[in-house]
Amino acid sequence: MPTPVEIAIARLEQLGGISDSPAHLVRTFLSPANQQAANQILTWMTALGMQTTQAPDGTVRGIFPGENPHARPLLLGSHYDTVIDAGKYDGALGIIAALAALETLQSEKITLPFPVHILGFSDEEGTRFQTTYLGSHRITAPLDPETLTARDTAGITIAQAIATESPTATALPILYPPGNPRGYLELHIEQGRVLEEADKPACVVTSIAGQSRLTIILTGRADHAGTTPMPLRRDALTGAAACILAAEILAQSSPPLVITVGKIQIHPGASNSIPQTAAFTIDLRHPDDEIRRNALTQLHESYLRITDERHLHLRWQPIQDNNATPCDPSLTTSLIRSLTAITGSTLAIPSGAGHDGVAISKICPIAMLFIRCRDGLSHHPDEYATPEDIATSIQILTHFLKSQPA
Ligand code: GLV
Ligand code: MN
Ligand code: MN
Repeated sequence: MPTPVEIAIARLEQLGGISDSPAHLVRTFLSPANQQAANQILTWMTALGMQTTQAPDGTVRGIFPGENPHARPLLLGSHYDTVIDAGKYDGALGIIAALAALETLQSEKITLPFPVHILGFSDEEGTRFQTTYLGSHRITAPLDPETLTARDTAGITIAQAIATESPTATALPILYPPGNPRGYLELHIEQGRVLEEADKPACVVTSIAGQSRLTIILTGRADHAGTTPMPLRRDALTGAAACILAAEILAQSSPPLVITVGKIQIHPGASNSIPQTAAFTIDLRHPDDEIRRNALTQLHESYLRITDERHLHLRWQPIQDNNATPCDPSLTTSLIRSLTAITGSTLAIPSGAGHDGVAISKICPIAMLFIRCRDGLSHHPDEYATPEDIATSIQILTHFLKSQPA
């Protein structure tokens, strides 16, 4: 009989093989591979005896009722969508480790005094719509009209995607009233190098850094590449290049500010046409919300200058703003007890990466357990956590579950 940890590793491989592209791992909001991954997770939940549902936005849930199905539930989980050319662990590990912890309890014939809900969120990365935490946000509140009209690169809105691409478009949403869950706990790879440097398998998280996401659209004028003298050009792409470098210079001069341009599209996109439009994304993060907002203002001012000098039109389009989110001190103290019981450590660090807990913190206390990943590498196919560290983190999670009061 394979152990819950061996099963978890095999599941990571299995989920990591479900992709929209044969060339690399990618699953985006409501894509065919995203739905296939959701079905696989639902199958695992059902095999564990959980009552399962899938919301119209694709988020899946399994309920383990415990001794008192009416008690406030504890939420566990993470997201099952990915970035483009992703690793297998980001998100998936949090869902699979939660299943493994419940399987461990089942094998020990332990019934918890309260329900556990495992959630697999359909979109955390925002790869398709730039809307980070879409799935977890939807379990706290209906999506607002502005979010529903966000468009992907094919021009499809979120509302249209849910109506036409979701196999459960008419299902009931998964929605928790504020104060209903007793807490949310997520296990996630660290995506940084602190644990490796400290030579520790796991730690708890103190807070999750704030982030702003924007789309910037520069418009100039398309013209002939062979006949238009350089001074007469209104080239949107060279303007975008100046803007992107301005972002890099700003971030380099203000650590720990980080700014990333991860996506750019130009039109018309021909080697002998001057680019008319350049649209690119900005992802800007800082642990201090005021510094993050000031940096955004500074960047906006520099973009106004650059586009003015180059006779380009600037569209500065904020997509999302999430403040830094502290983890709950009491739930985190309880998690530290389990961390210490299993590893002897009390290490607690802030998270530079974003996590679903940011959205869920609106309705209940949140805590996070980080596990060491090789070279701190993430959002990369070489992302890796050892089976030993995964086993340790599942032990911590199981210990935490056993130690929660009724
Ligand atoms: C999620 O991985 C994020 O931090 O963007
Ligand atoms: Mn993640
Ligand atoms: Mn990620």
